[in-house]
Amino acid sequence: MTAARAHVGEFALSDADFATIARMTHAHSGIMLTDGKRQMVYSRLAKQVRRRGMTGFGPYVELLRNDADARREAIFALTTNHTRFFREDHHFKHFSKVVRPGLVEQAERGGRVRLWSSASSSGEEPYSLAMTLLGEDQAAGARLAQRDVAILATDLAPHVLATATAGRYPAEMAKDVPDRFRRAWTRAERDEMVIAPEARRIVSYRQLNLLEPWPIRRPFDAIFCRNVMIYFDEPTKERLLARFAELLAPGSYLYIGHSERVIGPAVPLFEPVGQTIYRRVA
Ligand SMILES: C[S@@+](CC[C@H](N)C(=O)[O-])C[C@H]1O[C@@H](n2cnc3c(N)ncnc32)[C@H](O)[C@@H]1O
Repeated sequence: MTAARAHVGEFALSDADFATIARMTHAHSGIMLTDGKRQMVYSRLAKQVRRRGMTGFGPYVELLRNDADARREAIFALTTNHTRFFREDHHFKHFSKVVRPGLVEQAERGGRVRLWSSASSSGEEPYSLAMTLLGEDQAAGARLAQRDVAILATDLAPHVLATATAGRYPAEMAKDVPDRFRRAWTRAERDEMVIAPEARRIVSYRQLNLLEPWPIRRPFDAIFCRNVMIYFDEPTKERLLARFAELLAPGSYLYIGHSERVIGPAVPLFEPVGQTIYRRVA
């Protein structure tokens, strides 16, 4: 059986059409679609072919060539947005123990505290960070939220940013949030867990493509870039890490995903200080 006919489904996805989709996706987002992703590409994009009343992938790929909006929509549909609250919780424990005390002091002295969740998906990561920064004492956390503290949360895909901005999650997700933070920074409302206004207020969501120029000038105290570099090729990862290094002052921190590592020209700029945790050196 040829690869072109390897897909059981209502439409055929030819090698040439798959290659075009993979090329466009890589050029726009850095995401690599290897042959192993064919079934995923098929199932996510067949919905769009059907919705547009098209007869197959041929005319759909032709549309993608000519219509930037349709192309963007396809690429957003091809992002993998899996996440959860306090995922890889050793990062939040490290942040709480090692980084937070200095940042709280900085904020209380009137200084500026800036954190970046750079592939935030639907908000679980930046809200976990917000809760960790505000701490378990609600009154002290509410005072801290009044200071100059902010978490920038960005992602390529607008559909996940819409969920993130709403700050409402199915109630069963509450099991991932440690009790002390759940009590302080969420409330139960019917079948939902709602993020408290103080935690929401310190997080700002923006759509941002990590491959494009960033409208960011001032440095961060910590950057979280977790479980997105796995989708990129090596040169893209290297460039990204070097750009993060530019936005981290010496002594500030970079947190990356469990299967990721610092590679390329940024290596001498980061000292490993924990499991997938790096400190920017001078
Ligand atoms: C698997 S999620 C990771 C979410 C979270 N950081 C975590 O570790 O739980 C990867 C996210 O990266 C986003 N993404 C993929 N390519 C991107 C790009 N070029 N620029 C910005 N975000 C991108 C996807 O939309 C997706 O929401």
